[in-house]
Amino acid sequence: MKENTGKLEHYALSHWPDADHVASKMQKLVDAPLLHIKPEAMKRYLAYFDEKCARSKQMIEEAKEYIPGGVQHNLAFNYPFPLAMEKAEGAYLYDVDGNRYVDYLQAGGPTMLGSNYPGINEAAEKVLKENGAVIGLFNEYEMKLAKIIHENMPWVERYRSLASGTESDMVAIRIARTFTGKANIVKEGGAYHGWSDQLVYSLHIPYTGRFEAHGIPKECTAHTQEFYPGNIDSLRKILEENENNGGTAAVLLEPFGPECGTRVAHRDFCAKVRQLCDEFGALLIFDEVVTAFRAGPGGAQGYLNVRPDLTVFGKIVSGGFPMAGGVGGRADIMDSIAAGVAGGAAKAYVGGTLSANPLTCATGYYAIKEIVEKDAAKIAGEQGDKLTQGIQKLIDRYHLPFVAWNFGSIIHFEVSGVMYLSVQDPDIMKKLPERYANIKAFGAAMTANGVITLAGSRIYTSMADNDETLKATLDAFDEVFSNIEVE
Ligand SMILES: Cc1ncc(COP(=O)(O)O)c(C=O)c1O
Repeated sequence: MKENTGKLEHYALSHWPDADHVASKMQKLVDAPLLHIKPEAMKRYLAYFDEKCARSKQMIEEAKEYIPGGVQHNLAFNYPFPLAMEKAEGAYLYDVDGNRYVDYLQAGGPTMLGSNYPGINEAAEKVLKENGAVIGLFNEYEMKLAKIIHENMPWVERYRSLASGTESDMVAIRIARTFTGKANIVKEGGAYHGWSDQLVYSLHIPYTGRFEAHGIPKECTAHTQEFYPGNIDSLRKILEENENNGGTAAVLLEPFGPECGTRVAHRDFCAKVRQLCDEFGALLIFDEVVTAFRAGPGGAQGYLNVRPDLTVFGKIVSGGFPMAGGVGGRADIMDSIAAGVAGGAAKAYVGGTLSANPLTCATGYYAIKEIVEKDAAKIAGEQGDKLTQGIQKLIDRYHLPFVAWNFGSIIHFEVSGVMYLSVQDPDIMKKLPERYANIKAFGAAMTANGVITLAGSRIYTSMADNDETLKATLDAFDEVFSNIEVE
């Protein structure tokens, strides 16, 4: 087995956040009464939308006739109404009313080189001219993509292109079940692994089980289990119990912690999980939908130097182009996947008419090449560090209980701590909507100040960020923080 050769100087993370420190600050935040934006300031922020975003409003009203909820994405809170975007360039988004925003939503993560990146667009144009969008037969870019992933993440010995992160998580657990002959899949409470029938389980808040599993029969989640985030004893207990219950096919982890490190894992946590998986004969699956190439050329696994058996990819492996996903890993395990109907040993049935289309494989290949050659993860990570430090200074200056931390270019800032609510809290059903509404208001206030975040609590920085975008962002935080009502 080759070692992961990634050099840490090319990684986004200059440090690992202090898990205990973040956890204790978050506990305080969630135990404290909510802080609100002053009503007169909130009125002004909402007036921004009515006065400056009239075309968006009109468009969304019309869209509601044809699209459920009027919008296809839930990455932004879309409060007070979704904004319609017209142009994306570098670090900025422009809406249909001509307003400019610093873009930290980053389409959910994939545009780490900056939006609308010319090099990737040129590659797409070339492939389109030569092949059109899809052929359905082997194309050299399929191999180039698999090879460049392997070169940077050597534990990904074999790679299969798929359509999305959701599909790739689904495929990874199917491969694990086929290879091990066991059914149980253990995930971390609160983690997100897409919306497939089996994985809409304990999303966002640990031990919420099937709370969001509407339309999903109970049988589908019968073999999905969870352990308490970051708690190795909790995982061990489940693995031990499973010994008398068919064993465990796989443990599925977001390596930085659930929801991309919303609950920060200790740095040695993944290594401990690796040991447990070996002890109990379970496969270790890393969901690197966000962290692959964003954490650094070797992904979170390279940074942590922990070998998963399977890795799930999304978003970035297409450079942001459609059909963005894949699964890779140990050759013998990956060989349990069938291309079509294969005879002989049991194979996991996996396919997809548009998967591995030349367009996506080419854009993915060139995006990864560019990310590595330009040191994009590191540059975006440096911007993430500067921004987090700036946010922290403002939190301190205004004596606010808010919490900010980052894994390089992945920044978390929490004003309400909704994902830290506990199912044991008898008031959870009252607190949930209040705390969601609070982040929504905060997200709207930031948008009115020209900054778009992911769901009001996450920021992805990119290679396109610079002193100008950082200043504009910190000015926005300053303006909003100055309008928080403190007793
Ligand atoms: C960790 C993780 N896994 C899986 C997914 C699902 O990916 P997709 O939206 O491409 O289906 C996401 C999406 O944000 C994610 O963050």
